[in-house]
Amino acid sequence: MPKTFENITNIVLEAADKARKEIDADKISSYVSAPVEWPVECTVGPGLEGAIACETKIGYVSGKQGNLVYRGYNIFDLCAHSTYEEVAYLLLHGNLPNAERLSEFKSKLAEFRYLPKTLRLLMGFPLEDMNAMAALRMGTNLMRQHQTERDLMQAKVDRTKVISSDDDSVDTHEKVRGEQRAVYEFRDPKANRPARRKAKRDLQQAKGVESCYHLIAGVSTLTAAIARIQRGSLPIEPDPELGHAANLLYMMTGKRPTREAERVMDIALILHADHGMNASTFAAMVVASTLSDIYFSIGSGIAALNGPLHGGANEEVLKTLREIADPKRVDGWYASARKNRRKIMGFGHRVYKAYDPRARVLAPLADYLVNKSGDAEAKNLLKIASGLETRVVADLGASKGIFPNVDFYSGLMYSSMGIPSEMFTPIFAVSRVAGWTARVLEYMKSNRIFRPRATYVGEISRGFTPLADR
Ligand SMILES: CC(C)(COP(=O)(O)OP(=O)(O)OC[C@H]1O[C@@H](n2cnc3c(N)ncnc32)[C@H](O)[C@@H]1OP(=O)(O)O)[C@@H](O)C(=O)NCCC(=O)NCCS
Repeated sequence: MPKTFENITNIVLEAADKARKEIDADKISSYVSAPVEWPVECTVGPGLEGAIACETKIGYVSGKQGNLVYRGYNIFDLCAHSTYEEVAYLLLHGNLPNAERLSEFKSKLAEFRYLPKTLRLLMGFPLEDMNAMAALRMGTNLMRQHQTERDLMQAKVDRTKVISSDDDSVDTHEKVRGEQRAVYEFRDPKANRPARRKAKRDLQQAKGVESCYHLIAGVSTLTAAIARIQRGSLPIEPDPELGHAANLLYMMTGKRPTREAERVMDIALILHADHGMNASTFAAMVVASTLSDIYFSIGSGIAALNGPLHGGANEEVLKTLREIADPKRVDGWYASARKNRRKIMGFGHRVYKAYDPRARVLAPLADYLVNKSGDAEAKNLLKIASGLETRVVADLGASKGIFPNVDFYSGLMYSSMGIPSEMFTPIFAVSRVAGWTARVLEYMKSNRIFRPRATYVGEISRGFTPLADR
């Protein structure tokens, strides 16, 4: 193992050791639930807290212990010993790839990283004035250039089975069938059934998986291109010799990254690849559950990830640290934030009521990179971050289970690698696209359209007031 790789791996192993001392590893399996018997009884809180949307074998988050598992493998082991490509394959296919499968997968990603048509379309828009996540979402939707299986299926409507009122749409030699042709747009319900089954199968078969590979590769190319265009440069072609993390850095900066930077980015991508039924994963799955296609579905995931309560928090954290500006101001700033009931970005989590295992790895990595960079401003921000962590955990750790989350240290880490803050959330998407696609594929095996309900608490019977009398 190269020396620089070893340094970074040792940081991960130390963080893992520390975490394992605090996590009771023996208890982990006891928290995994038995298969669900539908309909299931559970207590649901606001924001669907506690609701069970589906069963999954993809990933497990233990909020009580601060533990994260992908397909049975602990996140610390994956960070220490694998690559993003292996992890993405694992999430999608259920097992770690052997050398042959990994090499096939990498070749596919290398092929799909070239997106000349999508980039040509995307560059027609004023990207330099756009929010990077808005540009990424648009680019992802533009990747859907060819007809997908879904479009092809819709185009294959069997005219003999449709009901139509539009005479032009019916072959003239056919006898008029009057009433039966009353509504052209809707297909005969019986004709629908095999079509629906076909659409489900498509996502499970090779074509569906290829679209997932296409998106995993493409979201990275788009992110790098957006980063460059926003800074007045042209996109750079991917380098087929480089892996996923290295290519992302290369396509953003135009320079082949050091082995150390590549390794750090690889670990960051592994850490963000999947995380239970979070808002963006659920958004992607809701869209897929309508049998819309995977490009629209991932576009929705990107939209949901953009919010400051979700993936957008990493950018907000740096703003907070800059606002505090001086380690000596942490206490005063914190007191005033609490007084104003302000949420402190990068802390708290719907599931974790313990230290987020991803932050356990990111914190020492940020510390290592910032100190190595020797950058005075970064060192100052790191000091502020560490002071803020101490302050928040002392106040809200035991009482409310509020600890640093994945977003607290990732921004500091990325900025010490020279990555501009508006690219933090798009990089989150680059990684999470593996989890989104894996979970959509899994859900499609027994798809049912998502349709929760809202309790109506409005008025039920108001007399209509004409406009003139209101
Ligand atoms: C992640 C988050 C949205 C989870 O939300 P949630 O499960 O709905 O939790 P709530 O917002 O209901 O918070 C529960 C309590 O903890 C407090 N709390 C939660 N996160 C807090 C934070 N970051 N700073 C201060 N207080 C916080 C809330 O004020 C609330 O207090 P109350 O019981 O006195 O009303 C929330 O913790 C948050 O907004 N964090 C900051 C944004 C962030 O870092 N997001 C990235 C998540 S990975």
